[in-house]
Amino acid sequence: MRQGRSKVNLLFTAFWAKQIKNFTATGMLVGLGINKRLNMIRSFKTPFTRPQLGAYHQGVMGYHYRDVMCNKSPIDIALYLHLINAVKPGTFIEIGTKFGGSAMLFRDMARMCGLDTQIVSIDRAPPDSDDRFCGILFVQGDVMTLRQTFSDNDLFDLPRPWILSEDSAHTFAACMAVLGFGAAYLRAGEYLVVEDSVLAELDLADRYDGGPSRAIETYFGDNPGIYEIDKTYCDMFGVNATTNPNGYLRKV
Ligand SMILES: C[S@@+](CC[C@H](N)C(=O)[O-])C[C@H]1O[C@@H](n2cnc3c(N)ncnc32)[C@H](O)[C@@H]1O
Repeated sequence: MRQGRSKVNLLFTAFWAKQIKNFTATGMLVGLGINKRLNMIRSFKTPFTRPQLGAYHQGVMGYHYRDVMCNKSPIDIALYLHLINAVKPGTFIEIGTKFGGSAMLFRDMARMCGLDTQIVSIDRAPPDSDDRFCGILFVQGDVMTLRQTFSDNDLFDLPRPWILSEDSAHTFAACMAVLGFGAAYLRAGEYLVVEDSVLAELDLADRYDGGPSRAIETYFGDNPGIYEIDKTYCDMFGVNATTNPNGYLRKV
């Protein structure tokens, strides 16, 4: 009887010893994985309520600058103005022109800051240019083949520092392509702004295969130390109070 009980005890102890070992090993691995992930990127959540964010987005989509559509939010207009004045870019390169309103706004911001910044706006279907867009170079090109577009149009020689603003297809693949392009060609201290990482909070990310936020998270997870999220901009008006949460990226 005693022998039987001690055998049961032994089995019981061995069982729990194994469970604890497995639990500890798994727990450590999972824990390490989670921590690694958490260390790499913080939440993309904005401080806006969902109804307010929807209304804000509607305003952005209908906004015009000097009578030309310009899909920028008031907070991001303020952030870009601050960024342009701080970086004093030799060249500002926008990917995603639409009607040219944001390119015109960036040109005027640079001029307001007393800068002679070259403005380049790339789109697969650029608008016709006229006097209103004086000083802006519209370039035909696809976000997926930026290297080709830059070399075909001699853009690699444009004055530094650069600010690169991605506002084109918003797909996961497009944003990954721009993050990779910036990693290869931006210099330390230059900026890449990945726009519209708020799409996930607006429940629109599925349309873009996860969109900009998934791309930023994935890129940071796979490539630590290439960019840093510049909280000076992301958090200037509250943590990620921007349509580009975690999207103001400074090349390290
Ligand atoms: C959101 S709009 C740009 C808005 C503009 N930056 C503004 O703030 O007014 C997106 C633009 O990206 C362009 N686009 C979409 N897919 C593209 C691609 N694969 N390569 C280049 N441009 C693309 C579209 O033609 C469209 O003009």
